Amino acid sequence: MMRKLLLMLVLTTACVATTRAASVDSALIIRPKESGTYQGDRDHLIARGEALWNDKSLSGKGKTSCASCHGDNTKMFKKTFLDAYPHPVKMVSKKAKLDQITTEGMVQFCMVVPMKNEPLPWDSEELAALSAYSEAVVQKAYVEKKGK
Ligand code: HEC
Repeated sequence: MMRKLLLMLVLTTACVATTRAASVDSALIIRPKESGTYQGDRDHLIARGEALWNDKSLSGKGKTSCASCHGDNTKMFKKTFLDAYPHPVKMVSKKAKLDQITTEGMVQFCMVVPMKNEPLPWDSEELAALSAYSEAVVQKAYVEKKGK
């Protein structure tokens, strides 16, 4: 009796742990083959990206912006962010079981997981803008501060 209970407990715990670890459908963060990419002036996209980076309405509950976590453009990132995209990111391999992620895939991942929202439309100006800003401004600032 005791043994059966113990076994059930172990199985339940393992089950919960697995669900938690693989909590994101990787299809949400991989660009679909037939999708288009928004084309626009790079400087305009970066400026729009900066506004979106600070926009709390992007989160599911409207209370969090990208800047809430990433603050001065160096917070919460790990050393993987020093490398050019695509590259491995720990949280992505843990939650979506992907070995590598692109810049726009990373934006989509943070939209879905920490921001608790839907991914942005793949052909949207918003996705192009946040990707351009993440790479040209945020990653650049991180590399300047933490790189050698
Ligand atoms: C609740 C906190 C939180 C919010 C909000 C958040 N992120 Fe993140 N983000 C993280 C964490 C944690 C990591 C580091 C993951 C890792 O390295 O394993 C990360 C990593 C990143 C990275 C770099 C990963 C790398 O190493 O290449 C980018 C780019 C990024 N986030 C963009 C965004 C964008 C864009 C938004 C807003 C749409 C956003 N984040 C919102 C927590 C957050």
